[in-house]
Amino acid sequence: MAHALPDDLAAALENVRVDLRFFPEVDSTNDLALELADDGAADGVAVLANAQRAGRGRRGRVWFSPPGAGLYLSVVVRSGEPGSLALLTLAAGVASAEAVRGVTGLPVELKWPNDLVVGRPWRKLAGILCESMGSRLDTVVVGIGINLLDAAYPPDLRGRATSIASELGRPVDRGPVVAACLIELKSRVMQLRQGEEAAVLDAWRRLGAAGLDRAPVRWQDQGSERRGRACGIDDAGALLVEAGGRIERIIAGEVTWDRTI
Ligand code: BTN
Repeated sequence: MAHALPDDLAAALENVRVDLRFFPEVDSTNDLALELADDGAADGVAVLANAQRAGRGRRGRVWFSPPGAGLYLSVVVRSGEPGSLALLTLAAGVASAEAVRGVTGLPVELKWPNDLVVGRPWRKLAGILCESMGSRLDTVVVGIGINLLDAAYPPDLRGRATSIASELGRPVDRGPVVAACLIELKSRVMQLRQGEEAAVLDAWRRLGAAGLDRAPVRWQDQGSERRGRACGIDDAGALLVEAGGRIERIIAGEVTWDRTI
């Protein structure tokens, strides 16, 4: 059972039309949102938790989720037409980056496919995990994890991870960040539904420009390490890398930026 929204969230979301369900602690907001979607939850239903016992990151990693230190948010996105959500993962990155930029003023950038990073060298501020319901590609859960305080990430990631509080030199209220994420995500999903993929791609290329400017990268290709220079994303959202005189398309997997930008 969802709890009543705490006062700070209720105030921040007063003028935002959204069905947000709040839980003090869950295993994973993505798991809960997937369950709700399976039970028929409508497009836009969102789950926010104060803590996660088993927060999940990309590629099977654990997403450290101590109470109150991070923002743990998942949103059900439904589409009538399978395929129109192909760019959803990039759209979610754009929406979250613009939300954090808008609320905090921090110059957040994107690292393909959808890490939110700041500073030089890049420090990870937030990550996104999009998951679909089994074979039903018409329903996707967008999971957004944002580090509000340094306690949100394990100490061994110090230097590679960061938080809004550490970058700003002061903590921020979570309410406006949650509200901005929900508003920006809705608006970017709307663009995808209306066939305005180009607007989402343009925004991604602008926010991700630093990492696409012939930056040296490494990635695994069928068990062997490849190296090249990232030079763009194509209209399907694949990373384009120049390697050995040709352009390779990377659609999934881990890419490491060599020179920490
Ligand atoms: C990454 O590895 O960069 C993605 C991290 C995604 C974490 C968020 S927190 C809210 C949602 N629930 C989860 O279990 N994971 C996502």
